[in-house]
Amino acid sequence: MRTQVGIIGAGPAGLLLAHLLHLRGIESVVLEARSREEIEATLRAGVLEQGTVDLLEESGVGERMRREGMLHEGVILRFGGLSHRVHLAELTGGRAITVYAQHEVIRDLVKARLDRGGQILFGVKDVSLLDLDTKLPKLRFHGADGAVREIACDYIAGCDGFHGVSRPSVPSRVRREYTRVYPFGWFGILVEAPPATEELIYAYHDRGFALVSTRSPQVQRLYLQCNPSDAPGDWPDGRIWDELHARLAGNDGFKLAEGRIFQKGVIAMRSFVVEPMQHGRLFLAGDAAHIVPPTGAKGLNLAVADVRVLAQALTGFYASGRSDLLERYSETALRRVWRAEHFSWWMTSMLHRFHDESPFHHRLQLSQLQYVAGSRAAATMLAENYVGLPFGEN
Ligand code: FAD
Ligand code: PHB
Repeated sequence: MRTQVGIIGAGPAGLLLAHLLHLRGIESVVLEARSREEIEATLRAGVLEQGTVDLLEESGVGERMRREGMLHEGVILRFGGLSHRVHLAELTGGRAITVYAQHEVIRDLVKARLDRGGQILFGVKDVSLLDLDTKLPKLRFHGADGAVREIACDYIAGCDGFHGVSRPSVPSRVRREYTRVYPFGWFGILVEAPPATEELIYAYHDRGFALVSTRSPQVQRLYLQCNPSDAPGDWPDGRIWDELHARLAGNDGFKLAEGRIFQKGVIAMRSFVVEPMQHGRLFLAGDAAHIVPPTGAKGLNLAVADVRVLAQALTGFYASGRSDLLERYSETALRRVWRAEHFSWWMTSMLHRFHDESPFHHRLQLSQLQYVAGSRAAATMLAENYVGLPFGEN
């Protein structure tokens, strides 16, 4: 088999790349280890930056998002028992976020590819990357039927997430990795309940962080800072509600609506970057190249930003034979990656309780929160990073 771009992974990065390439007349094949049903049911991100929304709309896959997504022009910081609104739109010249679940984006992109005859091979196993230093790299794998297959490609895009095979295929002597692991995790739940708030609430409390997000008028998404080694069994429903009520309590009458909890899970918190994001004819995009803690809501958005740059570079190559954009892919993508790494680390550091730190540290966090809530300059810094800097301005 032969294709122009071989893509490993049908997450947001791989699927959107395949779609953008298709719009520019470039052929690709996507290899995915899981089934369509599984990828369309995996719960992850919820917040789309303005630039992500614009790109999905411009590329013709934004129709359902426009109808069902929820536009938020502000976000709430809650501490000391009070809510403080950061007016995202006013501080950023009208930019905002859209709450639309990642698996809905996946469903829209899978449908768009399959409707246009695109090739996504689900249920593949043992993918290996060969001849990356040559002009004809190859992907070898077991198809869903168990047979060994090989695809020869001009280029390979490693979009297979943090635990994929692409990054380890870059020789360790040319890879530099930067990591930070946080001493806490997030306990996430889905609840059948009406929204308790019109905008997301990021809460800092002595007992730890809490986040109130949403999925629909009937389903809410809530998170609590927890021990990274916790399991769902450590959190019976009563304990979850006690903690959420305590961490969101205040003197302003805010009341969290309870409901039936129908999904529980623990999320690890880490920052990670690999440099460079390319080697020979392999280009890494999304979580395969970098991870952020979810506090800044940047992971999916960075995956989208990477493949936007990569699709442009590949278009330059196929349309006019230029290779300079491909050569600069890593350098271009990493500028935005490091901005998002810093923002996610900063939000995480400001909003979580570091239980091994001194009371001095706790006071510094409160001072930082008060500054962001009270200063237009500080709030603007949060707002422009949170809605996402315009492409090319980072
Ligand atoms: P992935 O989504 O991980 O996709 C990789 C795909 O590759 C998977 O389908 C996998 O099955 C496949 N694969 C892996 N290995 C192989 C292999 N060897 N062969 C073939 N296929 C393979 N980000 C935000 O922007 N906003 C948020 O609000 C946000 N909230 C989050 C909340 C949670 C609870 C979590 C866990 C993450 C959140 N993120 C958020 C991060 C976001 O979900 C990820 O950054 C995003 O999924 C990255 O997309 P990706 O395409 O790079 O990788
Ligand atoms: C979510 O709705 O899942 C969500 C929202 C904001 C974040 C992370 C996750 O920062």
